[in-house]
Amino acid sequence: MDVYEAVTTRRAVRGFTERPVPEATLERVLAAAAWAPSGSNIQPWRTYVVTGAPLAEIKKRADQRLSAGDPWDEPEYEQYPPALKSPYRERRSAFGEQRYGALGIPREDLEARQRAASANWQCFGAPAALFCYIDRDLGRPQWSDAGMYLQTVMLLLRSEGLHSCPQMAWAKFHRTVAEVLSPPDGLVLFCGMSIGYEDVSAHYPRTGRAPLRETVTFVGGR
Ligand SMILES: Cc1cc2nc3c(=O)[nH]c(=O)nc-3n(C[C@H](O)[C@H](O)[C@H](O)COP(=O)(O)O)c2cc1C
Repeated sequence: MDVYEAVTTRRAVRGFTERPVPEATLERVLAAAAWAPSGSNIQPWRTYVVTGAPLAEIKKRADQRLSAGDPWDEPEYEQYPPALKSPYRERRSAFGEQRYGALGIPREDLEARQRAASANWQCFGAPAALFCYIDRDLGRPQWSDAGMYLQTVMLLLRSEGLHSCPQMAWAKFHRTVAEVLSPPDGLVLFCGMSIGYEDVSAHYPRTGRAPLRETVTFVGGR
């Protein structure tokens, strides 16, 4: 698979089969992703790849919390500015319409949206996940490094025939994840990621993108 194909076939997949992901494949992907760039090569990511009993335990504990009506953990970082301005606000609501519209959930049915979102904490059925932490003391450029790293992981997963869904949702259950993984003090859970083979029976539309000229300005040329 060439890079263009990996980029264009990567999507946030939200339905996986139970087919296990071989440990050797995960190891190969994470070893190659370590070549992602980072400012001054500080490699600010700290990643846990989780399968089997520990992942089942995380899912079970998350489910118990949800069933008990236990409130989410306050994420340790601001996921979006409280007043998202244009054009981001419109893009975000278009995404919500599409995501929940595809499930037949109307905009005003917040409870149904919440129920659908709770699949996040079952990793959408995926048998593998990763949890990417970053040191609390690091700044915006290092968070950006972590993003490049995670995209590198996702593209490599495509080349192995796998799909993924990056999930900030896990930041809302960071205590539950920490109970099982016991990360060292001083780390913030930035993002989880579900990893597995796509359940192709789950149909949903592909997300769109803003027209190129809205986000890119070409300067120069002939
Ligand atoms: C950092 C990050 C966090 C995300 N968190 C979630 C999440 O918690 N749950 C989810 O279902 N999708 C999540 N997504 C997926 C986005 O919704 C998705 O990438 C976006 O809508 C574009 O769709 P596509 O990836 O299918 O092209 C996240 C994506 C990124 C990059």
